[in-house]
Amino acid sequence: MDNLKEKAKEISDKLKDSKKVHIISHIDADGLSSASIAYESLSRCGTDVDYEFIKQLEKEKLKEIKDKDHGLIWFTDLGSGQLDDLKGMNCVITDHHEPQGKPSQVRLKDRGNLMNYTSSNISELNPHRYGIDGASELSGAGATYLVARELGKNTDLSKLAVVGAVGDLQATKEGRLIGKNREILKEGLSKGHIEKRIDARFYGLESRPLFKVLQYANDPVLPGLTGDEEACINFLVSLDIELKIGDEWRRWYHLDKTEKRKILSELGKRLLKRGYPARYVDAMIGEVYTFPGEELGTMLHEAKEFSTLLNSCGRYGKGEIGLQVCLGDREEYLKKAQQLLKGHQKVLVECMNHVESTGGVKEKEVVQYFHGGDEIPDTVLGTVAGMILGSGEVDRGLVMIAFAESSEREGLKVSSRGTKRLVDKGLDLSEVMSKVSKSLGGEGGGHDIAAGAYIPSGCDKEFLDKAEDMIKTQLGIS
Ligand code: C5P
Ligand code: C5P
Ligand code: ZN
Repeated sequence: MDNLKEKAKEISDKLKDSKKVHIISHIDADGLSSASIAYESLSRCGTDVDYEFIKQLEKEKLKEIKDKDHGLIWFTDLGSGQLDDLKGMNCVITDHHEPQGKPSQVRLKDRGNLMNYTSSNISELNPHRYGIDGASELSGAGATYLVARELGKNTDLSKLAVVGAVGDLQATKEGRLIGKNREILKEGLSKGHIEKRIDARFYGLESRPLFKVLQYANDPVLPGLTGDEEACINFLVSLDIELKIGDEWRRWYHLDKTEKRKILSELGKRLLKRGYPARYVDAMIGEVYTFPGEELGTMLHEAKEFSTLLNSCGRYGKGEIGLQVCLGDREEYLKKAQQLLKGHQKVLVECMNHVESTGGVKEKEVVQYFHGGDEIPDTVLGTVAGMILGSGEVDRGLVMIAFAESSEREGLKVSSRGTKRLVDKGLDLSEVMSKVSKSLGGEGGGHDIAAGAYIPSGCDKEFLDKAEDMIKTQLGIS
């Protein structure tokens, strides 16, 4: 038995021994998928389960949790960054964030024998301890699925593991799921729960009219098209693409191969003509994951859209709605989720406009940054930072750091986003966010490519200076 499977078995045995389990999970799509996998797999065992969603497992939050008598707690998509603070608790963890106490500068290939966190009451499954990259090869939902597989058959839940991984952008690096995520994908494919195809990697392939897919494209921004409805319609008409079937707008999945090829090759030419590197063109195409059990032409049929629907719930304090949709509700909760999605999309547009109207992104030597003030909700700050970095409008050679007022507590939320290229050169944002925030009296962590923190108000300038120094060291720039 491989070590990861052994750990999953150990955790599932501990869960089976408990009549009652409390799940605590993260508020994003991966967190909601994780909680749903945990909830469903335990319910199938007849366990009494309840759950809650939190933004981060900070010290204050942890105190609140410890004060309640929850019995056995299952932390999903969080926990590994706070192991020291969890000491003494009776809990299991399935997470993929960088574990606390990881020796700094230990690169992935050397991580194989970090293995076990030893504590009498805590069992933790985290890919980083097995030489598997938690930022790209296994999501929180994937880690949770490995335990669900030991609790029962549960292979149908592979679908939610794919939603979680896609929601955490784990398929963006190679244009497809890789590593342990891919093993889980294959299980879902072989059992008929998931299907895959090579196609455009735009958002909204099933639910949006064709011109809107182009109008809202932001990864990368399509020059002359993104943001301009009329230009998008004219572009499609100029390629002889029918915009409607009867009275209905056509959507991407209605197109045949020739039509898709025509559009993509024209978009590619446009990007190259405007000086975009070829990798932007390549990144437009990749694997698309769909779920045959869901209705074709709905958001739930395709993984990227499904994960966005979940983000629209969890990031606005409505994790339960997303969880109920994951568990199968297609009535009341789905309607509520769709309402929340409209709000989420509006918020993202407003946030992007806010950054632009307040002077945009400012550059230092190795970092670039912007301030969201109290206009950008702390729960979508990271999403906005990632969207701007991926847009093709800013320098991808610089790390993106974003600040916003925290809505729940005194202080600033910080989000940071890097690129694969910078990570290959030595960037580890998890280390930067955790160490720099700690030196200023805050707390933070995450992944090498994306991490976050909370810091006291007024510390942003100092934070930037210190982060820049540490990133220079990581990248070997003196
Ligand atoms: O907390 P959690 O692990 O679920 O979130 C991971 C975060 O990392 C997501 O916000 C995702 O957008 C970001 N990420 C990224 N680029 C990647 C991988 C993850 O921005 N290549
Ligand atoms: O909040 P944001 O999207 O920027 O977070 C990026 C990544 O860093 C996520 O995986 C999140 O869970 C993690 N993070 C963390 N500790 C914090 C803030 C964020 O581990 N205090
Ligand atoms: Zn995650």
